[in-house]
Amino acid sequence: MSASQELEKAATNYALEAVRLDKQGSRGMAITMYQKAIESLLKLVQLYPEYSLNKVYIQRAIAYQERIKALQGAAPMPPQEEATNVEGGAKTSQGKSTYEELIVTEKPNVKWEEVIGLENAKKAIKEAIVYPVQRPDLFPLGWPRGILLFGPPGCGKTLLAAAVATEIDATFISIDAASIMSKWLGEAEQNVAKLFGSARKSALEGKPAIVFIDELDSLMGRHSNEVGGEVRVRNQFLKETDGIIDKGKNLHVYVIGATNKPWDLDWAFIRRFQKRILVPLPDHHTRLMMFKLYTSHLKLATDVDLHELARISEGFSGSDIRDVCQSAQLKIIGEFFESGQAANKLAKPRFLTMDDFRQILEERKPSVSLDMLALYNRWFEAFKAL
Ligand SMILES: Nc1ncnc2c1ncn2[C@@H]1O[C@H](COP(=O)(O)OP(=O)(O)OP(=O)(O)O)[C@@H](O)[C@H]1O
Ligand SMILES: [Mg+2]
Repeated sequence: MSASQELEKAATNYALEAVRLDKQGSRGMAITMYQKAIESLLKLVQLYPEYSLNKVYIQRAIAYQERIKALQGAAPMPPQEEATNVEGGAKTSQGKSTYEELIVTEKPNVKWEEVIGLENAKKAIKEAIVYPVQRPDLFPLGWPRGILLFGPPGCGKTLLAAAVATEIDATFISIDAASIMSKWLGEAEQNVAKLFGSARKSALEGKPAIVFIDELDSLMGRHSNEVGGEVRVRNQFLKETDGIIDKGKNLHVYVIGATNKPWDLDWAFIRRFQKRILVPLPDHHTRLMMFKLYTSHLKLATDVDLHELARISEGFSGSDIRDVCQSAQLKIIGEFFESGQAANKLAKPRFLTMDDFRQILEERKPSVSLDMLALYNRWFEAFKAL
């Protein structure tokens, strides 16, 4: 296969996986996979500017970007609404999903190097999971089984979990808490038991297992209205996590939970995560590294100053910065096609200038407010456990 065919195939696979996850309500992982699809498409266009399908690729990339925006904007939908909103695909005739349809066991193919900054979080994860898996004999007192990642939206919680999954040769079971109640309807409790059952089975057979629960607050929230089986599902979760912490002493089963509303969590739940890690907004240096990563495939004019971009993007999340770079790129490629220049096989899109970036940065505000940040820090001070 040629390099271009390979990229095309990668983009298609990522997109298919993203759509599948999206249908299931796995918001976080779906975003991650849409993102991967866009990256592959843009790389393809960049490497083969004269390719005839480029216009289609760009249109697709834009469509995926729109979908990401919609998903990011959407608060987890209440169960009833969601059940009617999702069409076809992952539903059985009564509108619910089977066990297999909701859990994600595929490796998302995200590397540690793609997660910029977050050294504390990476270190904690390595200490809690990677080292004990390699040398359990060095941990006579046991090791933590539960890790809670919390922090503002778009700073890399889901990305970190995806990187862990890729990194260690473990069974990775990912589930979006928001979709558990809505998609499993009456079977949520049994399916939760089943989920932990498969994790234990894998560990017993010698393969460590990681259960990743994204958007934890939507299930474990103190304020969620307790309809139907919600209380039972929650208790099932508590029971299962206890099973791992107390009884599964020698088993390598880990639970990673992620939330951007930690204050909504019940104390009963919080205390089961022995490690609680803040995934913060990027600082200046981290933003610089992000701009480097996300512009690495772009053609930049000489006036583009990444340090300056890092300076003027204070308060932006990793997700915001990636969006800025991608929007800049889509903007000039869009211009290129609209001006008709693309018809000339030798023509190339112009280079990105500092003004392009400034314009886009001015048009958008950081997605996390100062008030929100203060809330995270306060919660961290009260509940931190590193
Ligand atoms: N630290 C980071 N390094 C590199 N890219 C990042 C980082 N943080 C965020 N991004 C980019 O933003 C996207 C969204 O991040 P991610 O889904 O991990 O955020 P999150 O913390 O899980 O947000 P939410 O609370 O909304 O679920 C990532 O796919 C990645 O492209
Ligand atoms: Mg997430």
